[in-house]
Amino acid sequence: MKKHALITGAGTGIGRALCEKLLKKNHEVIGVGRRPAPLEKLKQDFGQSVTIVEADVGTVSGRNKIHSVVKKQKLDLLVHNAAVLDPVGPISKMKRREWQKHFQINFEGPVFLTQKLLPCLGTGSRILNISSGAAHRSIQGWAAYCMSKAALHMSYECWKEELSGQGILVGSVKPGVVDTAMQEQIRNLDEERFPMLENFRSLKRNNELLDPNTVSRFLAWLLLDAKPEIFTEKDQDIRDEALKPLWDVSNETTE
Ligand SMILES: NC(=O)c1ccc[n+]([C@@H]2O[C@H](COP(=O)([O-])OP(=O)(O)OC[C@H]3O[C@@H](n4cnc5c(N)ncnc54)[C@H](OP(=O)(O)O)[C@@H]3O)[C@@H](O)[C@H]2O)c1
Repeated sequence: MKKHALITGAGTGIGRALCEKLLKKNHEVIGVGRRPAPLEKLKQDFGQSVTIVEADVGTVSGRNKIHSVVKKQKLDLLVHNAAVLDPVGPISKMKRREWQKHFQINFEGPVFLTQKLLPCLGTGSRILNISSGAAHRSIQGWAAYCMSKAALHMSYECWKEELSGQGILVGSVKPGVVDTAMQEQIRNLDEERFPMLENFRSLKRNNELLDPNTVSRFLAWLLLDAKPEIFTEKDQDIRDEALKPLWDVSNETTE
């Protein structure tokens, strides 16, 4: 029987690559995002197996809309991938309204979308948060992002504890530095607001960014094949050499 996955931020970058990966592995995918064009492209490319939902995960109405599409369908996989970087700059100049909007998307979105969709999840379902190294260390200029990803990390710990009795597995993952629109946005920041700018520009120049397809292989392995104790253990890191032999195989016979 086909499995069902819901992925937020499905139109671009890591989310889009993961959608493709799961669709090629015969899943039904519900892809969420705000802009219609990237979602329509996903639908165009994969047809019937994809349902697209234009919704903002940072709003109650957006989450209600997502819920109304899922209805009572069982979800095997729920991936909280949508996130924003803005506002960038010193905390001393941060506008409260911008900070709130940021937290509504990066933190409230995953927490309350999980809450809303709980009736659709059951034994064996997996919830995965896309985390970041920024959840664990401060990066000057990225205060909002570091704080929201750190809060998201704690929400993973709390949900994991609360849902373990229901057989619902909760995981978290650091995808590495990935060649997506978010990285392009980072390279276009100015040094005054983001002192580490040059490091990120040089990663691109030196071809050191990960390809979203590679990341999607790691995520698909975590979601579909990793043992429950590995899936839930910690904020799993794509750079963990001990995990590499388990997912980084070129021989993907199911595609
Ligand atoms: N790229 C990296 O190096 C890197 C590193 C560590 C972690 N991450 C994490 O990886 C995830 C994916 O990012 P990405 O790098 O693939 O960047 P991306 O291409 O910018 O993807 C973010 C996606 O989220 C969607 N989104 C943003 N706000 C939303 C909202 N309120 N409601 C619904 N959808 C929303 C965006 O589409 P719309 O604007 O159309 O809504 C977009 O498709 C994020 O959680 C990010 O923090 C990325």
